Amino acid sequence: MAIKILGIDCSPRKKSNSGALLEVSAATANEKLGGEAIELEVIHLRDCAINHCLACGTCGKRKDTGAFIPCVQRDKDDMAAILEKMVAADGIVVATPVYFGLPSDLFSKFIMRTRVLRHQDFKLANKPVAVMATAGRRSGGAETTILATWLPFIRHGCLIVGNGDQTCQFGTMGWAGAPGQILTDEWGLEQGEQTFRRVYEVASLVNAGKTIVGDGTPMKFSYTSGNR
Ligand SMILES: Cc1cc2nc3c(=O)[nH]c(=O)nc-3n(C[C@H](O)[C@H](O)[C@H](O)COP(=O)(O)O)c2cc1C
Repeated sequence: MAIKILGIDCSPRKKSNSGALLEVSAATANEKLGGEAIELEVIHLRDCAINHCLACGTCGKRKDTGAFIPCVQRDKDDMAAILEKMVAADGIVVATPVYFGLPSDLFSKFIMRTRVLRHQDFKLANKPVAVMATAGRRSGGAETTILATWLPFIRHGCLIVGNGDQTCQFGTMGWAGAPGQILTDEWGLEQGEQTFRRVYEVASLVNAGKTIVGDGTPMKFSYTSGNR
């Protein structure tokens, strides 16, 4: 069965390098894996209505019964559908442009709204996640962007992966300025292909493990632990 990978394009511009990097990398990885190993779905955050997290502190679970409480904005934008896709995916690849050495503001707005999943017993626990950062400059902050993008996913209990065999680096560092220029970045595309293969590999291992230990999340969210 194909491994479902959700690509999250965090660029605000149409024909983004981030989006192209996701599509081409998944396609070449798939070819190497025999043709039908990866099923990619890409969410372009720019096309989604995403409100800011209101920091209302409501989402999560009831302290008395443990029943889950959804985000108060659940029916007000597209986030509920995005969260559903994230939970259903076997792995996630985030592709972001580098903005001032950091992931895009679109990424930040989106990721804050995923907090509800963390508070609901870590619904993203053990999901492999990799990052692709595209910068206009060769030393423009791709690595700092990758590191910063990892952090929320570590808080989610995800399994952060790089680009696996060959070079085992931190994911994918694309080098491109104008839209579409990434398609000429040979080394970026190579890292992209490796990154998808690594997510595929780890997702396959996790799925195999689930047949032994079950599908339920092994992590329980607590309001009190860690408050010291
Ligand atoms: C607000 C803004 C900030 C940027 N900051 C950086 C930067 O810090 N370093 C860099 O190398 N490129 C920077 N760039 C260039 C983009 O990272 C580059 O154009 C990239 O290809 C955009 O990817 P996209 O097509 O997926 O949006 C910046 C661009 C914008 C619009």
